[in-house]
Amino acid sequence: MGLVKTAVFPVAGLGTRFLPLTKSTPKEMLPIVTKPLIQYAVEEAIQAGIDHLIFVTSNSKKAIEEYFDKNYELEDRLQKNGNIKALQQVQNIIPRSVSVSYVRQEEPKGLGDAVLKAKRLVGNENFAVLLADDLIASEESSSLLSSMIRQFSEWRTVSLALDEVPLSEVHKYGIASFDEESCSVSSLIEKPSALEAPSRWALLGRYIFSPEIFFYLEQLKPGRAGEIQLTDGISLMLKDKPIFAVPFHGKRFDCGSASGFKEAIRYFLD
Ligand code: G1P
Repeated sequence: MGLVKTAVFPVAGLGTRFLPLTKSTPKEMLPIVTKPLIQYAVEEAIQAGIDHLIFVTSNSKKAIEEYFDKNYELEDRLQKNGNIKALQQVQNIIPRSVSVSYVRQEEPKGLGDAVLKAKRLVGNENFAVLLADDLIASEESSSLLSSMIRQFSEWRTVSLALDEVPLSEVHKYGIASFDEESCSVSSLIEKPSALEAPSRWALLGRYIFSPEIFFYLEQLKPGRAGEIQLTDGISLMLKDKPIFAVPFHGKRFDCGSASGFKEAIRYFLD
């Protein structure tokens, strides 16, 4: 049995930076050429050995459930027309050995609250959290998660992924005090100003947790932007346990903004 077999995908966010499009289309369904953003994160998780996917959705995200569901009519037509290549493309979105669960986040109360919604489905398992907004160039994506799982196997607390960003961008991310030699994290702050930031090491949307994280998330009060912040839950756990991170030196696109999204499309078109 692998150490981390479950992954949580928080996909309930409103996607306000992509309005008016996201009024009816979830931002996770935005196309990076022929695949939606969410599929890249799902493939990355499966390649790292995950076999249970949990989506934390909201009522405007039905397109995500439909996308991962079987489409009998389409498959039947492709089969009858002998279009085997297309048939395989729709059948292989999620392999049969992988199970999928959905849970709703009724109100947009923050990333920490979204992860907490998956508590019952996660049960006693260690789990990964993947934010589809952070798109990683495919050749580097599964090795990042695999390195994080390897790192997690030692202390079994938390493993984070960190990306060094320009000082002008620290206000967009959770920022960590990080010792590159020991790979340990000594503090975290959610979206600090350039003056407050302890470093330029930004939390990338990949996390590995033991189920203990739920205990800390349950104690949180609303933080930055009045939301329950995942970063605050990790900070609270840091008071009791050592936490580690893997520095990421590859190509990442922040598809939470239109400029990052455009850059990703250009990269994947090449
Ligand atoms: C979230 C986290 C933040 C992290 C970022 C990575 O922010 O709260 O700590 O650095 O994802 O993309 P969001 O992008 O949801 O505002």
